Amino acid sequence: MKLKILVTAGDGIGPEVTLEAVAVLRELAAAGGHTLEIEEKRIGGVAIVNDGTPLPAVTLAAALNSDAVLLGAVGGNEFNSLPPDKRPEAGLLGLRAALGGFANLRPAFAFKELAANSPLRPEIVDGADILFVRELLGGLYFGQPREWNRKTGEAWNTMRYTRDEVARVARVAFKLAQKRRKKLTSVDKANVLEVSQLWRATVIEVAAEFPDVTLDHQYVDAMSMHLMNRPRDFDVVLTENLFGDILSDESAVITGSLGMLPSATIGGKVNLYEPVHGSAPDIAGKGLANPLGAILTGALILRHSGGLEAEAAVIETAVRKVLEQGFRTPDLARSNPQGFTVLSTTEMGKKVRETVKASLVSV
Ligand code: NAD
Ligand code: IPM
Ligand code: MN
Repeated sequence: MKLKILVTAGDGIGPEVTLEAVAVLRELAAAGGHTLEIEEKRIGGVAIVNDGTPLPAVTLAAALNSDAVLLGAVGGNEFNSLPPDKRPEAGLLGLRAALGGFANLRPAFAFKELAANSPLRPEIVDGADILFVRELLGGLYFGQPREWNRKTGEAWNTMRYTRDEVARVARVAFKLAQKRRKKLTSVDKANVLEVSQLWRATVIEVAAEFPDVTLDHQYVDAMSMHLMNRPRDFDVVLTENLFGDILSDESAVITGSLGMLPSATIGGKVNLYEPVHGSAPDIAGKGLANPLGAILTGALILRHSGGLEAEAAVIETAVRKVLEQGFRTPDLARSNPQGFTVLSTTEMGKKVRETVKASLVSV
């Protein structure tokens, strides 16, 4: 198997965590006789500084010419006064639109070793295993018109969806639910928004194609509470773009840290892989970043772009083993700082690589 991966590490902790993810992928590829062709290009703030734009044409061309894109994170405080279309985040949104992936899969799996790191009680989070399917190319992020009119002191964005946009992401979510616990929760605000009424009606129509999946609907405000009260009740959670952004970060509370969450965006020309977290300017450059979300994102590349299910599972198992052995980055060591071996970003990456290597030898 040969995989051509474009790495766009971006800003802040993006380069720190993607370095570790790529090193783990290389370890696995070497052992399995697979060829990884890795190319690197700039995106986000680092591209604004060097190329004058958050999404240089060479980055986009390389992305379209790859089998998979791994993105670290974009954004930095020095860009905060820029308008949305000039910011580092515009580079990421432009890349998402160009690659065309509309279904952003954000698994929130609560490793039992991290249950004590959650502010929720262990018996609430233990066993939680949710797959968020976030629509990624519609809603407020891309709807027109959008403007901040400084003269009148008004600003507006447009939440817009077509029936087809809802139906295609719903089909992805139902199919994934069929392979899991066959439960799908669709999240909307249909008590207030027309867009959500279209969303709900379309999801109900699509559900007829999947009679083996149990569908229920939640309003987003209530859902944000149910997620904290009873996370184990949810299997696949289908949401529009902004609701999915918010609820997936909230799920970090269930898993113990935002640094644990991976994502894969499918359905377009080239799949895009990103940890859920951002550039974390508050800890960037200090070796404090948790690389496990990025490393687990690497596993998703193998699963969804390489068809390498067994190899993806090797990475996921290695992460579990490292946690079992008591190794933690600082964000994971809240509950028992003395009882754990607290590692830096690179040390944690190395531990996972060693564990991957050992498990390959023992097979
Ligand atoms: P953030 O996700 O960067 O950080 C939120 C909090 O979580 C911070 O306290 C941070 O230190 C912590 N955190 C995040 N990832 C971590 C990790 N791997 N290990 C340990 N701790 C981690 O969100 P923010 O602070 O709201 O945003 C910072 C910048 O990142 C902004 O410019 C934002 O737009 C951008 N952002 C980018 C992406 C992306 O590129 N995919 C995603 C989210 C936010
Ligand atoms: C995410 C991020 C992005 C989003 C930003 C940086 C554009 O928060 O991937 O979750 O809102 O989609
Ligand atoms: Mn987000």
